[in-house]
Amino acid sequence: MQAWDNYLNDNKERFLEELKRLLTIPSVSADPKFSDDVFEAADYLKNKLLEAGLDNVEVCPTDGYPIVFGEKIMNPELPTVLVYGHYDVQPADPYELWDSPPFTPVIKDGKIYARGACDDKGQMYMHIKAFEMMYKTSSLPCNIKIMIEGEEEVGSENLSNFVENNKEKLAADVVLVSDTDMIANDIPSITVGLRGLSYVEVEVTGPGRDLHSGLYGGAVANPLNILSEMIASLKDQNNHITIPGFYDDVEVVSEEDRAAMNSAPFSLEDYKSSINISDVHGEEGYTSLERVSIRPTLDVNGMWGGYIGEGAKTVIPSKAYAKISMRLVPNQSSEKITALFKSHFESIAPSSVNVEVKPHHGGESVVVPTNFPAYRAASRAMESSFGKKPIPMRGGGSIPIVAMFEEKLGLKTILMGFGLNEDAIHSPNESYGLFNYYKGIETIPYFYKYLVEESN
Ligand code: BES
Ligand code: MN
Ligand code: MN
Repeated sequence: MQAWDNYLNDNKERFLEELKRLLTIPSVSADPKFSDDVFEAADYLKNKLLEAGLDNVEVCPTDGYPIVFGEKIMNPELPTVLVYGHYDVQPADPYELWDSPPFTPVIKDGKIYARGACDDKGQMYMHIKAFEMMYKTSSLPCNIKIMIEGEEEVGSENLSNFVENNKEKLAADVVLVSDTDMIANDIPSITVGLRGLSYVEVEVTGPGRDLHSGLYGGAVANPLNILSEMIASLKDQNNHITIPGFYDDVEVVSEEDRAAMNSAPFSLEDYKSSINISDVHGEEGYTSLERVSIRPTLDVNGMWGGYIGEGAKTVIPSKAYAKISMRLVPNQSSEKITALFKSHFESIAPSSVNVEVKPHHGGESVVVPTNFPAYRAASRAMESSFGKKPIPMRGGGSIPIVAMFEEKLGLKTILMGFGLNEDAIHSPNESYGLFNYYKGIETIPYFYKYLVEESN
């Protein structure tokens, strides 16, 4: 029995109601139409940090959406944990695929359904409640700083400036983040790697205007056809990326480490059925677990051009577009990969079209060691609340700011996430299990307790 156990039991309903209220605010950072809502979410959190008992609570303005900050310094001699999370969410589109409106949270089958339920409002809010619990029961054993941003889903550009300019304010011993997933509710895991990201938009221009596809078809390059061919050529028959130099810096993982990774519980059949596919697909020579963790990849995220309205319009479009992401692994540099992509893509374009490559936001990959006090504290914390030691696992997603915490603040980050694949983050019907929400709130205080022990 811990000092905070009763507090959690007595406040469960309210903890959920507060999250539900946060989930009603459509804080979509990518779409300017939701700008007021993004600011409102920041304001709501500021009040919640104040109510929880944090000091020096501020909504720090940036050139974009603000950063909400608060802290509780118990004793400067004790360790300081910098908690990071994000209050912005991905667009909810396509709305028609949601079973209930994305910003009207509903509870069904033990889960809360709403955009941001897991990524990252639900997971971030656990930290505010865990702090409240520790503080109100006089069991906060060290110092805490909480920083919540509103631009994670659009690349955290202003946060990186904020970090650069506020090194003193953010000084800490370790960063703690819940914005990742675990294997299953009965197989806890800790994320010890994130992939980097290079993201580009390409534009292929053919004729100076849309053309009649009968009058001109066959004699003029069709930008959509050309773009499809160019994209198809980016992978060979083994699904190996063909961009020269793409793999040059890729970290080679030892056979021993690969065997350890592949020993993690994973059912290919469950994986396939959970996303309705009849077979998996990917780079020859690697397992599915490896393909989404230690190997880089390239994917088209969207492609458009020409006529996509009702019926048939016979036209050769003037332009074709695609958004392409490359997930990167340790030692690859996102800037370098973007440059390699750009020069390769331009070089394979036939002379009948003009190609433009526009880089978007990017980020570097991360590896978290498992042999330092904060990792041991996180592992013990999950073991205490789940009754099972968590498995260290590299994840496939990206959180670009984590590499910057290391680069700019010299801090390692613990990625103690409580989401599940089935939460469908970024998809319609995103959800977060109530089990996971409460389990997170229960686990976090153990992390603080053990961090102090491990640091001594
Ligand atoms: N929380 C996710 C990243 C994540 C989820 C990592 C699950 C590991 C497991 C984050 O909000 C996210 O979506 N990141 C983006 C990158 C960003 C630059 C838009 C991503 O990975 O696509
Ligand atoms: Mn997230
Ligand atoms: Mn996300």
